Amino acid sequence: MLTFDKVSFAYPDAKETINQLSFHIEKGEMVSLIGSNGAGKSTISRLANGLLLPTAGKVYVDGADTQRTKTSAIAKKVGFLFQNPDRQICQNSVYDEIAFGLKVQGFSKEETDRRTKEVLETFSLKGDWFPFTRSRGERQRIALASVLVTKPELVILDEPTTGLDYRECIMIMDYLTQLNKTENVTVLMVSHDMELVQEYAKRVLVLTRGRLVGDGNTNAIMKDMSILSKANVIPAQIPTLALKFGDRFSDVYTIEEMVDAIKKEKQQGKGEVAS
Ligand SMILES: Nc1ncnc2c1ncn2[C@@H]1O[C@H](COP(=O)(O)OP(=O)(O)OP(=O)(O)O)[C@@H](O)[C@H]1O
Ligand SMILES: [Mg+2]
Repeated sequence: MLTFDKVSFAYPDAKETINQLSFHIEKGEMVSLIGSNGAGKSTISRLANGLLLPTAGKVYVDGADTQRTKTSAIAKKVGFLFQNPDRQICQNSVYDEIAFGLKVQGFSKEETDRRTKEVLETFSLKGDWFPFTRSRGERQRIALASVLVTKPELVILDEPTTGLDYRECIMIMDYLTQLNKTENVTVLMVSHDMELVQEYAKRVLVLTRGRLVGDGNTNAIMKDMSILSKANVIPAQIPTLALKFGDRFSDVYTIEEMVDAIKKEKQQGKGEVAS
């Protein structure tokens, strides 16, 4: 669904931000992209939807080279949530904001109205709200709803849960998980929140100064402290604790698994969990 083949990118008058980067994401994967501030995560997101073009190498979206494909054609396949929802919102009502993408893509009036109303309901939004005075969480939901309403095959989310409270965060993540499972939508999510990554992503790409330093199964990456420290991220708590407890906790990644493992230790009469 998304391929980076030896991609390099430099902003005008700046040194290279992305350096010979290669990875491939299959249709239906749920992948997280992590890395320190300024590592190039947002730049990769913009390269992946054709907003930026590589200075060397190739980016393919569903097999199409972004350098040879119209941005409008890429936009039909790729939904992109900006890091800041206010860069995305441009209409004076939530209804118009959500309907905008459908109109641009040439959907009929009836279909635009049907889908817009459906998404308003799903995201608990009101069509007559003035978007700019709503809370940060609501603005994030408005931006996400306007991305998902066109039913893209690949959804790229740049820090989708920043500024959201726990309930809003879970609501958005559960919705994305459901889309991924039921509609086979491919998700690439940039995040700083390792608890969220641990819980929702199946695979993690780790970026340091424009280079990939890790690419693998989430559980493996979350216990690889050398990779995580290179990326300067705070590791998720449960896998870190499990590592400290030693080999008997090697399969523990979630709170439920930790509770089960501790219960098992107690039943077996081991006084201390640490080995
Ligand atoms: N429009 C731009 N012009 C010039 N340099 C830029 C531009 N946007 C980003 N950069 C630089 O490119 C590098 C990568 O930026 P990018 O925004 O991709 O990082 P990031 O990993 O998304 O960071 P953050 O975690 O802070 O969002 C940084 O050094 C940044 O200063
Ligand atoms: Mg960024």
